[in-house]
Amino acid sequence: HRHLLGIEGLRRPDIETLLDMAEDAIEVSRQVEKKRATLRGRTQVNLFYEASTRTQASFEIAGKRLGADVMNMSVANSSEKKGETLIDTAMTLNAMRPDILVIRHAQAGAVHLLARKVDCAVVNAGDGAHEHPTQALLDALTIRRHKGRIEGLTVAICGDVLHSRVARSNIMLLGALGARVRAVGPSTLAPDFLARLGVDVFHDMRRGLDGADIVMMLRLQRERMNGAFVPSSREYFHFFGLDEEKLRYAAPDALVMHPGPMNRGVEIDSSVADGARSLIRDQVEMGVAVRMAVLEALAQHLPNV
Ligand code: CP
Repeated sequence: HRHLLGIEGLRRPDIETLLDMAEDAIEVSRQVEKKRATLRGRTQVNLFYEASTRTQASFEIAGKRLGADVMNMSVANSSEKKGETLIDTAMTLNAMRPDILVIRHAQAGAVHLLARKVDCAVVNAGDGAHEHPTQALLDALTIRRHKGRIEGLTVAICGDVLHSRVARSNIMLLGALGARVRAVGPSTLAPDFLARLGVDVFHDMRRGLDGADIVMMLRLQRERMNGAFVPSSREYFHFFGLDEEKLRYAAPDALVMHPGPMNRGVEIDSSVADGARSLIRDQVEMGVAVRMAVLEALAQHLPNV
């Protein structure tokens, strides 16, 4: 593959190869000397049109650990503010001959569009409510390391599934690796039509979490709700926020995940987020490893001139 635009289109062996490569990258990141030469002489540009802490920082760290020159484009200070279109900005950067362009954009499909225009490898770092493939890969790596497998596990993805690119990518990836995936939330945020994606849909936490091996919580993505659906935080927490009491519905050895950023007291209680069954910090570490693996995999297809 020349680009990573989504989980859609990846086959199970592609996913498993990336996860295995990420295992090696974890070892690199845990050494004192973390630098590798895979991307030496290459230029990586991170172009983020939406806010990010984890994804942008970990793509920058991952590129640097592989020896690339990494440039973070500061979109807030770019000529987008003067009316330049996304395509013109991308073509301008393309003329500077980057090798890899990592893009996050609010519009679903924007990253696919750019991938057809530029000469370099393109990585989707999140496009609207569509896909966030490296998040799904890091989630799968985290689960595999803690549970030893993904096949046969029951994963409950809870909360605002409708607006979540993390959920879409995870539904495809976990399904491809043989997990049973559930969408759990109010009917406005986990509508029944999600069943078309191959998930079982539940509208209450007791039934949705029943026997789940992994409980994956999602933030209310108010920026994509356009004023509709928005419940009050207190009411939402009462019915759908994960606290110790609701976690008891899940399997006794269930583990808790959250892609971040978290809204404590809205979708998740601090006692669970910071508790012994939380994998949230591990997910962040796996994020660097998975992004190193993705960059290394793309490096195999970069031109040698
Ligand atoms: N999970 C995730 O994408 O986090 P950021 O928005 O901070 O990158």
